[in-house]
Amino acid sequence: MEKINAVITGVGGYVPDYVLTNDEISKMVDTNDEWIMTRIGVKERHILNEEGLGTSYMARKAAKQLMQRTNTNPEDVDLVIVATSTPDYQFPSIASILCDKLGLKNAFAYDMSAACSGFLYLMETAANFIRSGRYKKVIIVGGDKMSSIVNYSDRATCPIFGDGAAAFMMEPTTEDVGVMDAILRTDGKGLPFLHLKAGGSVCPASYFTVDNHMHYLYQEGRTVFKYAVSNMSDVSAAIAEKNGLTKDTIDWVVPHQANLRIIDAVAHRLEVPREKVLINIERYGNTSAGTLPLCIWDFEEKLKKGDNIIFTAFGAGFTWGAVYVKWGYDGKKQSI
Ligand code: UT7
Repeated sequence: MEKINAVITGVGGYVPDYVLTNDEISKMVDTNDEWIMTRIGVKERHILNEEGLGTSYMARKAAKQLMQRTNTNPEDVDLVIVATSTPDYQFPSIASILCDKLGLKNAFAYDMSAACSGFLYLMETAANFIRSGRYKKVIIVGGDKMSSIVNYSDRATCPIFGDGAAAFMMEPTTEDVGVMDAILRTDGKGLPFLHLKAGGSVCPASYFTVDNHMHYLYQEGRTVFKYAVSNMSDVSAAIAEKNGLTKDTIDWVVPHQANLRIIDAVAHRLEVPREKVLINIERYGNTSAGTLPLCIWDFEEKLKKGDNIIFTAFGAGFTWGAVYVKWGYDGKKQSI
């Protein structure tokens, strides 16, 4: 039997219209454009500021564009998995909402929680469903409405994050392209350094939790930074070495867009020049599970069939890893 590979056959994305600039943030907290640009690398971020809309709205827009661009019949979709830390509700899942909104009649669907590494985990998970031979069209979506958990009076976190979502279609192929390898890790040691204190089963919502700002993202930035640099750099170098990839044969690096200094450290470790690193942190900030697919959405036209791409991310948990993908098509797919 021929080996089944799982190939990415299209991408769709969505960022909300409203743009929150560094100048505006500087009016909310004691900061300035120069600090944010030099310490983080974010110029502006998109914010979903219409009342009553959650992450599923952006995920739906991204998946809809994906289905148009890949000319997908809703009845043919087998599986939808959404990576997010900001679901519309504790339950049901965003993925189940998508099935209804997109008219998917033959799919099963669920959400996955792996923070900023969510999309990395999704690529390998979806690839394994495809490799099993039982699933032919799998939609994976990464997205977060980080503005729903960011404290806009905390200068250490509010400049970093933005809202957005993007989606890949994954399908079987017998060609030598697709998800070639993955090294994924979770250690659980990151809990004290990056978490949301209340609203879960340990500390349900109460007047106390609201009064004490416990529904906002909490991060000890310096510690997370240190772990992100070492783990993303090490795992990217490890997957390159394992697959015989060198600075010359790596075509693109797609790093989680959390901090430009982390991105530069990963590129330095792989010895690849900035031109080979896909970067859009300046315009979107950190959209958590959305960063990796949003990068591909932005730079799709540069990609060619057979390009060697290393995706890498790091997030709460801690979770981290790298996925090696051989790209499956040339240039940008337009809506049909
Ligand atoms: O996506 C999930 C994974 N997350 C990450 O990868 C994030 C990792 N962490 C980071 O990106 C960085 O640690 C931050 C961007 C969060 C912070 O940058 P930093 O260079 O580590 O700054 P710091 O926390 O060490 O703070 C340095 C100084 C402090 O002042 P003092 O104590 O030296 O006087 C802060 O109070 O910068 C101050 N500071 C600010 N100043 C102006 C912190 N935030 C700001 C701000 N504007 N927005």
